[in-house]
Amino acid sequence: AKYSIVDQDTCIACGACSETAPDIFDHNDSGFSFVKLDDNQGTAEIPDDLEYDLEDACDGCPTESIKVADTPFKKDSVEA
Ligand code: F3S
Repeated sequence: AKYSIVDQDTCIACGACSETAPDIFDHNDSGFSFVKLDDNQGTAEIPDDLEYDLEDACDGCPTESIKVADTPFKKDSVEA
């Protein structure tokens, strides 16, 4: 299983991820992205059929703000 979180300290609100993977990412009013499955907590398993989109979005982020891990992320952290 994969888990994901957006590091909003480094996201520049470019919007690429929610274009590439709209089932995983959405952006707030300021344009900053978040994982919509779990309100960017990094604790929801990404559904298997979205893993390809996840990889694409991760590769496409210009600031490497999309973190991906095999285990859930720690609370209030971008570390898994
Ligand atoms: Fe931000 Fe990267 Fe998405 S900069 S809007 S997390 S593609």
